[in-house]
Amino acid sequence: SLSSAPAPYVSKHSSDPLLIRAARGEKVERPPVWMMRQAGRHIKEYRDLVKKYPTFRERSEIPEVAVEVSLQPWRNYQTDGCILFSDILTPLPGLGLQFDIEEKKGPVLRKVDTWEAVNNMHLIDPFETCPFVDKSLRILRDEVNSETAVLGFVGCPYTLATYLVEGGTSKEYLEIKKMMSSDPQLLHAMLKNLADSIGEYACYQIEAGAQVIQIFDSWAGHLSPRDYDVFAAPYQKMILDKVKERHPEIPTIAYIKHSGALLERLTRTGVDIVSLDWTVDMAEGRERIDAARKGMGLEGRTGVQGNLDPALLFADKETIKERTIEIIEKAGPGHIMNLGHGIEADTPEENAKFFVETVREYRY
Ligand code: CP3
Repeated sequence: SLSSAPAPYVSKHSSDPLLIRAARGEKVERPPVWMMRQAGRHIKEYRDLVKKYPTFRERSEIPEVAVEVSLQPWRNYQTDGCILFSDILTPLPGLGLQFDIEEKKGPVLRKVDTWEAVNNMHLIDPFETCPFVDKSLRILRDEVNSETAVLGFVGCPYTLATYLVEGGTSKEYLEIKKMMSSDPQLLHAMLKNLADSIGEYACYQIEAGAQVIQIFDSWAGHLSPRDYDVFAAPYQKMILDKVKERHPEIPTIAYIKHSGALLERLTRTGVDIVSLDWTVDMAEGRERIDAARKGMGLEGRTGVQGNLDPALLFADKETIKERTIEIIEKAGPGHIMNLGHGIEADTPEENAKFFVETVREYRY
C-alpha cells in the first residue's frame, strides 16, 4: 500500500512556531502554552456543533468538522499549540477493533480478553483505515500557517488495553490487573500488537504534518512501579523508539496522570518532555527529572510540561495569574505551560482565555 501513500507534508514556511523551538530546547522569550483537551466540551461553538453532528465519531472523523473543532481554542485564545480533535481510541478500528462513544457511558468496546481475540488484532494500515486523520492534519497545518504548532497524539498500549480488557472505562482497573497475574503472556501479546500499530500510527500523523507527538498513558499512574516497569514502560518505549528512528527531528511529550511516583522511570524512557500533573511541585519534579537524566549519561535536558490544576481555572483572575507565574518560575526555560490534566467541561471560557494570556504576556 506504500504506493498509495500521499507525500509527506512539507511546510511552505521556514520559521518554526514557538512551541516547537521550546520543545527542541532552543532559547525562547516565554514558555509556549496550550491546554490538554482544549478542543471540545468547554467551548460554546463546539457545543453548538454537537447539535448538528451528534456523535463523537462524526465530529472527529469528518475532516472539515474535526479541523473546525481543533481551530476553535486557537482562534479564541491564541494557544501556541493546536491539537488534532480525535481520540486515543480512533486508530482501533484499523486493528480490527470497533468502538463507540456513548454520551453518558463514554467509550464502549467489544472486550478483547482471549487468545483468539488477541490473535485477530492486525497491524494497522493507516492509509486504508484513517485517511481522515491525514486529511485533517494537512488542512490544519495549512490553516494555522506556522503561527501555532500542530500536535498529534496517541494513547499508549497500557492505557488502550485498559479499555479493551474492560470493554470500556474503568475505576479500579481490576480486569486488566487480574489478567496481569492470571495470564501475563496474553496481556503482553495484546500490548505488543498495540505498540506495533500505535507506533505506525504516530509516524503516519507526523508524515501528515504533526510537528510534535504527545503520548498519553493516562492510567499507568494507577500501577505499582514494578508493574509499570513490566506492562507500561517497555511499550511506551517501543512507540518512542519508532518515532525517533523514523523522525528524529520530532519532539515527543509523555503524559501519565498521577505520575508523581514514576517521574524517574518516565524520564528513562528517553522522552523529550515529561508532562507533569498538578500533584507534583514543579521545582521538585524538575530536580528529579534532571537527576534521572544525568543518571542515564544523556546530554541536554529533558523538558517539562504542565502543571496547573485544571480546577484553578474556576478561581478568580488574581489567583490564576499568581499560580500560573509561580509554575513558570519554578520550571524555568525548557518548559511548555499547560494544565496538569484535561480542561474541565464547565470551565468558563473567559478564565481559559485569561490563563493563556497570562502566559503570553510573561517574559523570562
Ligand atoms: O484525558 C486524558 O487523560 C487524555 C488521554 C485520553 C483521551 N481520550 C485523549 C483525547 C483518554 C484517556 C481518552 C479516553 C476517552 N475518550 C474518554 C475518557 C473516558 C474515561 O475513561 O474517563 C472519553 C470521554 C473519550 C471520548 C472523547 N474524546 C470525547 C467525547 C471527546 C470530545 C470532547 C471532550 O470530552 O473533550 C474526546 C476528545 C479527546 N480525547 C481529545 C484528546 C486528546 C481531543 C483533543 C483535545 O485534547 O482537545
